[in-house]
Amino acid sequence: MQTVLVTGGSGFIGRHFCRAASQFGWHLIVLSRSPAKAKMVLPEAVQIVSNLDQIAADESIDVVVNLAGEPLAESRWTDGNKEKFYASRSGLTDSLYRFFRERELAPATLISGSAIGYYGSGSDPKHEESTVVDGFSHQLCDSWEKSANQFQSLGTRVCTLRTGIVLGDQGALAKMLLPFKYGLGGPIGDGRQMMSWIHITDMVNVLLHCIADTGLSGPINATAPNPVDNKTFVKALGETLHRSVALPMPGFMVRLLFGEMGVELLLQGQCVIPQKLQQNGFRFEFPSLPQALDDLLS
Ligand SMILES: NC(=O)c1ccc[n+]([C@@H]2O[C@H](COP(=O)([O-])OP(=O)(O)OC[C@H]3O[C@@H](n4cnc5c(N)ncnc54)[C@H](OP(=O)(O)O)[C@@H]3O)[C@@H](O)[C@H]2O)c1
Repeated sequence: MQTVLVTGGSGFIGRHFCRAASQFGWHLIVLSRSPAKAKMVLPEAVQIVSNLDQIAADESIDVVVNLAGEPLAESRWTDGNKEKFYASRSGLTDSLYRFFRERELAPATLISGSAIGYYGSGSDPKHEESTVVDGFSHQLCDSWEKSANQFQSLGTRVCTLRTGIVLGDQGALAKMLLPFKYGLGGPIGDGRQMMSWIHITDMVNVLLHCIADTGLSGPINATAPNPVDNKTFVKALGETLHRSVALPMPGFMVRLLFGEMGVELLLQGQCVIPQKLQQNGFRFEFPSLPQALDDLLS
């Protein structure tokens, strides 16, 4: 039986992971700021702690799945919010590192979050070794990955998952459905920005795959093999929902409404290829967008 410590376990990806992992009979420990709320969305057997000190001194943790992070798409990127984004990712990962360094019982594996924002923006295909374009998203992801990589000095195998737009019952897709319901769903800006997405089932499978395959380490693109541009995404969504596609939301309006967040998350995109997973024989259940949308929405 594995013991797995999960941060962000109450979130969208975390709760799906915990549900899947609990079926293997693993001992799951979720670190949450709100244990009562976390309890409501997690399987009964999951142990919830609000502080790392609540973990028994002799408890040996095999794997850490590190997903915690202040949501990026729900507020403007003010200096104060940017501090929260860093503190909840790099800051929390640094505390995890200090915790394990001091107790001298390092996990064998750390699977830590990152995002496709690591690559900055651009429509050229990005694999794990590609060059990056600087910007806030890149700096945040880079800092998060560096914090995670400190675990290497403890002998821990570290995978940093450069995660795409996760499609499921929460997150970006759920937000896109409402405008479509009212006939307002349409492309954003010129619609040419690339969207690298992944179905939540595949996302959970990537996490499980990285835990199981001890040969994997370093940055790993967690995206489906068929990224599409925004126009294609919106068209596929309209077809799945049997709704017409509205006129594009002009770029200037996105800038006005959402500022830097709108520019980096909505107007700019990345064309990310899961090269390492493909070379490693990972099989996507939902490699194409129509398949993924059909599964989630019909
Ligand atoms: N979903 C996506 O499409 C996507 C794409 C790329 C990368 N990611 C990254 O992957 C991670 C998980 O994504 P998700 O969609 O599952 O996120 P989510 O639903 O927003 O959940 C994030 C979790 O992080 C914890 N958290 C939030 N703010 C925090 C703060 N200020 N300090 C400490 N913990 C905090 C929360 O747990 P408690 O409230 O229980 O403490 C929450 O359950 C995030 O870091 C996200 O940036 C997600």
